[in-house]
Amino acid sequence: MSKQFDVVVIGAGPGGYVAAIRAAQLGFSVACIDEWKNDKGGPAPGGTCTNVGCIPSKALLQSSEYFEHAEHSFADHGIGLSNLSIDVRKMLGRKDAVVKQNNDGILYLFKKNKVTFFHGRGAFVKAGDAGYDIKVSGAAEEVITGKHIVVATGSNARSLPGAAFDEDKILSNDGALRISEVPETLGVIGSGVIGLEMGSVWRRLGAEVTVLEGLPTFLGAIDQQIAKEAHKAFTKQGLMIELGVKIDKVTSGKSSVTITYTNAKGAACKLEVDKLIVSIGRGPNTVGLNAEAVGLNLDERGAITVDAECRTNLPNVWAVGDVVRGPMLAHKAEEEGVAVAERIAGQHPHVDFNTVPWVIYTSPEIAWVGKNEQQLKAEGREFKAGTFPFLANGRARAMGDTTGMVKMIADAKTDEILGVHIVGPFASELIAEAVVAMEFKASAEDIARICHAHPSLSESTKEAALAVDKRTLNF
Ligand code: FAD
Ligand code: NAI
Repeated sequence: MSKQFDVVVIGAGPGGYVAAIRAAQLGFSVACIDEWKNDKGGPAPGGTCTNVGCIPSKALLQSSEYFEHAEHSFADHGIGLSNLSIDVRKMLGRKDAVVKQNNDGILYLFKKNKVTFFHGRGAFVKAGDAGYDIKVSGAAEEVITGKHIVVATGSNARSLPGAAFDEDKILSNDGALRISEVPETLGVIGSGVIGLEMGSVWRRLGAEVTVLEGLPTFLGAIDQQIAKEAHKAFTKQGLMIELGVKIDKVTSGKSSVTITYTNAKGAACKLEVDKLIVSIGRGPNTVGLNAEAVGLNLDERGAITVDAECRTNLPNVWAVGDVVRGPMLAHKAEEEGVAVAERIAGQHPHVDFNTVPWVIYTSPEIAWVGKNEQQLKAEGREFKAGTFPFLANGRARAMGDTTGMVKMIADAKTDEILGVHIVGPFASELIAEAVVAMEFKASAEDIARICHAHPSLSESTKEAALAVDKRTLNF
């Protein structure tokens, strides 16, 4: 007889491992299956986020930001340095150690919460009276049964046709995090989140970085006032961004990659680079899941079809995170994972996609929540917007980092905050106040009346709220 569990989670990324822990907290017997291997072949739970996504990219962004500060900003503070150098091997080693701490942390949390972990690939076998049989193929093979199944198998990088990832010269996010020496020239296709973050890392360390973007607008999905400010800052830093290009061909040579493309004016162009990062979006990962065996529905993109509460077409089979619709963000996956565990327990949680924050961890950072000006205009909703530049913020001046602004948008009549958009220092942290405010349906005036510590960057959020009513105090 196979091992029986109340809940079997397939995938231990942020969606899966959090769902498993929450289900165990609620008193269920829980198994979590994940196939990711570390360089020694052992388990590495945490998914894309921990192994080749959020965590390692932020480790390299931190290292490269320190380097850039040392090179360009320390002198302003009177700090002299000579013979500045970067030991890329050591930087990568530190990043790997940070990843391992997180892998080990998840294994510890599984033990603490009595989640049974299986290292291997999980695939549907059949549905029966006791639930769904799942085959685990790892070092050993076995079949386990779950009354409820939560699929959290994540996503994979999309490649360009005819330019498969070799992770040596043509790199996905995986290879982009493992470049062993600073390339002289780096090409990036796609000026989305990964392109900007990874392009920034290697530019700060000395690479000449060219970003080729298919769309004519830079960061078209975000508030365009914020996007313009960010574009100005990135260009000033030396990131070369070409918009509206059409990639015609990518050819991998002995020691370089050549990209043939048509630029926005229709001219044929060629770019030769040492390394090329292709970051043109990600696709849902259902390979090896054997979804057909039980009739689990996928949409035309290959994503698992779910309703607003992450229910699939099959009873007691749920799916969360990157493998379903919605933004591909770790915290969105986590919220869905927790909500599914609570629904299995008969609770009624709610995930509001409108208050899921986004952050791009470049310098300046970009963060936003809620609606932007373009969206509100398209909806025909009347709004008031207020902005406050970091240039007028005392803490930003003291830090020597005054790029950017906070922008708040509120309903023209009710003053309810509809969106907050930030480009500037610690935008990733500042956005949390906006998320809380929007969850509590706060008005711009609520934020304007709340006491914010001085001097702090958060005063810029208060001032942006005052600006909605055209009464900033410091600008
Ligand atoms: P994943 O994290 O992809 O995890 C899925 C897991 O399931 C993997 O471990 C996989 O091995 C396993 N799996 C798949 N199929 C099977 C199977 N059949 N059997 C067993 N195991 C299986 N998001 C943010 O919010 N903030 C960031 O800063 C951020 N930075 C990123 C940087 C990069 C470079 C990338 C690529 C992504 C980044 N993301 C970030 C996105 C984030 O990583 C994803 O949204 C998140 O990991 C999705 O979580 P998930 O649990 O749905 O899937
Ligand atoms: P993305 O969707 O953010 O950006 C892809 C970009 O590539 C777009 O601007 C698109 O117009 C462009 N593009 C697509 N096809 C193209 C082509 N053929 N030629 C030229 N340009 C093309 O995708 P990305 O950067 O790959 O990241 C995937 C996802 O991972 C993100 O959407 C995000 O959900 C997640 N992520 C989140 C991070 C964060 O939260 N800080 C960091 C990194 C990734």
